[in-house]
Amino acid sequence: MMGNLKTSFMFLSDVMADDFDLVRVMKGDEELASAFLEMGEDYMGSEPPELRGRFLRSVVDLQVEEERWLYLLRVDAGFIGFVHMKVDTTDRPGWGWMMEFYIRPEHRRRGRGRRLYERSERILVNRGVKDIWLTSNPEAIPFWRAVGFAETGEKVEFNDYSVMVKSV
Ligand SMILES: CC(C)(COP(=O)(O)OP(=O)(O)OC[C@H]1O[C@@H](n2cnc3c(N)ncnc32)[C@H](O)[C@@H]1OP(=O)(O)O)[C@@H](O)C(=O)NCCC(=O)NCCS
Repeated sequence: MMGNLKTSFMFLSDVMADDFDLVRVMKGDEELASAFLEMGEDYMGSEPPELRGRFLRSVVDLQVEEERWLYLLRVDAGFIGFVHMKVDTTDRPGWGWMMEFYIRPEHRRRGRGRRLYERSERILVNRGVKDIWLTSNPEAIPFWRAVGFAETGEKVEFNDYSVMVKSV
């Protein structure tokens, strides 16, 4: 009996074998928040330290809204990236808005960014989103193109990031 049960569980875990988890961070969950803050320091490396800390903490504090998500990407028990996104209510109401997106440098170019994006897109689509937008730094444009985004030609005035959109 136990044997059968064990076999069934093993079978189930085989079917579900997936070392790739999205873990949602909510305000007040300090253990997850600190993993985000640590990766965020690298993500925002070019910004002044004081601004980095304040911005990253504000992202955590915003995780009380139903249609805003901060997910950490966990692979093989380690956190290797994150996505911060929401259903936009201001610039493009009803659109999905990818605000922050990151994979640790040593894990890049192995398809993890693509996979994290696809999972994130599914979450937005399940909420009824039909279009997604973001602003990309110049280095990330090839990645966003690879996952189906196109530049609109608009640029953010203060940092020259490119506006990119995708219909889903
Ligand atoms: C952008 C980023 C998330 C990509 O993550 P990643 O895990 O390396 O992406 P993937 O391996 O899934 O790449 C998928 C495809 O995107 C394209 N791509 C990704 N990074 C690229 C790069 N540096 N140069 C050119 N093409 C790139 C390729 O077509 C790639 O497919 P391939 O490896 O088979 O050629 C990662 O580089 C990163 O975190 N950068 C710093 C933070 C950042 O800029 N975030 C975006 C904010 S707008």
